[in-house]
Amino acid sequence: MSDNQVTVAIDGPASSGKSTVAKRIADELNLIYVDSGAMYRTITYVVLEKGIDLSDQDSIMRELNQVSIEFEKTADGQLVYCNGQDVTDEIRQNDVTNAVSAVSAHPKVRAELVERQRNLSQKQPTIMDGRDIGTVVFPDANVKVFLVASVDQRAERRFKENTLKGIESDLSKLKQEISARDYKDSTREVSPLTKASDAIEIDTTSLSIDEVVEKITAIILGKHPELLK
Ligand code: DC
Repeated sequence: MSDNQVTVAIDGPASSGKSTVAKRIADELNLIYVDSGAMYRTITYVVLEKGIDLSDQDSIMRELNQVSIEFEKTADGQLVYCNGQDVTDEIRQNDVTNAVSAVSAHPKVRAELVERQRNLSQKQPTIMDGRDIGTVVFPDANVKVFLVASVDQRAERRFKENTLKGIESDLSKLKQEISARDYKDSTREVSPLTKASDAIEIDTTSLSIDEVVEKITAIILGKHPELLK
């Protein structure tokens, strides 16, 4: 990756605020926002729709090879398309959320999506969020941030998000699900959730979104003042 290419990696556990802050920073600094979790969610959605066994890596790969995943920025936010079908809302449903760790643990699925993630960022200043962006997808990213927050705080955020989207949820169940996803994402064999040694850790538990956005924007602009132009 060349020195003047801007690639910002935002990693962290489920509901640590990654996508909210990454979208805001993308708008402010005119970066392309890539939601890598949405890519794992999209293939998981297809797998569930087709009734494929979550542990059957080869069948999942056969599907993934037929699936195009595209993002579109609109006035209503970023939309996700799977083979041309808008799946933005479907991929946030609980059944997908609870199955995605199993699908994203398959090495072949990861290899394919990591390649697509790298292609998406070519030649464009990009901010990408996920679990392994600073460690695997862009080990040379010029800015790496690792967001953390307590399980209680993350469950409350997800509860509020769900309520706003009209998705019914139970707070104590959300806490259990987030802890379970943390465990699966951190202990899987391939590219587990870990902080890159050169990532800056920010604990967002008691920070507002504005404060987190401000901190990360200052870090990016410290390295890339040209983005303010
Ligand atoms: O960020 P999210 O909650 O939408 O991500 C959904 C799941 O996808 C998450 O539980 C783990 C997986 N994921 C991953 O393994 N690697 C990434 N870079 C992004 C997400």
